[in-house]
Formats: sequence, structure tokens, C-alpha cells
Amino acid sequence: MTNAQKWMAAFLGLFLFLFVLGSITKKEDAGNAVTEKYMEEISQASQEIDGLALIKQTGCITCHGSELQGTKMAPELKDLKKYWTRDALINYLRNPSSYSDDARFDEYRAKYKNIVMPSYRNIDVKDLGKMADYLLTK
Ligand code: HEC
Repeated sequence: MTNAQKWMAAFLGLFLFLFVLGSITKKEDAGNAVTEKYMEEISQASQEIDGLALIKQTGCITCHGSELQGTKMAPELKDLKKYWTRDALINYLRNPSSYSDDARFDEYRAKYKNIVMPSYRNIDVKDLGKMADYLLTK
């Protein structure tokens, strides 16, 4: 081999090495993106399940019904995103009596006499957030 041939071989080797390295890291990136998306979907799904599970576990369904369809004791819980932001809903769950001036609630008071929506101040705000997230999807 002449010197020139040696140089050519060295460059070729380097080129190949970089090419292979490049394609390996690219594949890893794509793999990560897929995994991240997958994890995000899983956590979104589990958030909804968590919210509903918490609502059942906390006993909201005793008054609001097993499908939150409403009972003689409490109103149906749907279309809540018409009335509530996430923060307002969390605050409401923590302190329902502070909202009883709202006109909509006059009707509730007449219809569900003697039943008051309990305050859930003792529940972790994060869990209330999960419940609110779930309620706002309905
Ligand atoms: C003891 C029965 C009872 C329980 C248990 C109960 N609620 Fe209520 N809830 C009511 C009543 C009654 C109202 C109607 C408003 C009022 O009278 O204060 C109401 C109103 C609401 C509203 C307002 C509805 C609207 O139209 O904006 C939401 C939201 C709500 N409840 C969510 C919950 C959640 C979430 C839980 C469980 C963490 C729960 N409630 C547990 C009785 C109950």
C-alpha cells in the first residue's frame, strides 16, 4: 500500500464508523419517542381510572349514583365543564358551602332538601385534582 492508499483507507474507515454511529443514535431517539408516547398514553388512561376509582372509593356515588347519574339525594354530575374550571371544582369539593349562593344551587337546595354536599377538605388536593379531571371529561 502506498501512503495515499493508507490515507484513503483511514478516511473510509472513519466515514463508515461515523455513519454506523449516526444510525444507531437515530434509532435510539425514535425508540425513545415511541416509548414516551406509550408511557404518556398509559398515564392518561390510568389518570381517568384513578379519578373514577377515587370517586367510587370516596363515596360520592352514594349520593350521586353509581354512574353519577343523580339520585333522589343529589344531582347528576355531567356537563360540569360548562360550569367549572378545574381549580374552581377542586375548591368547591373542599368547601361546597362557599358556593351555595350560586343561582343554580337554589334549585338544588329545593330539590335535595336536608342533604348537603359534604366538604372534602381532608382529602389530598392531588386526589381531588384527579377526581376533578375525571368529572370534567363527563
Ligand atoms: C351526602 C350526599 C353527597 C355526597 C356523599 C357527595 N355529594 Fe356532591 N352534591 C350533593 C348535593 C345534595 C349536591 C347539590 C348541591 C348542594 O345541595 O350543596 C351536590 C353537588 C355536587 C356538585 C355540583 C354539581 C353541579 O351541578 O355543579 C359536584 C361537582 C359534586 N357534588 C361532586 C361530588 C363529589 C366529587 C363527591 C365525592 C368526593 C360528592 N359530590 C359527594 C350531595 C353529595
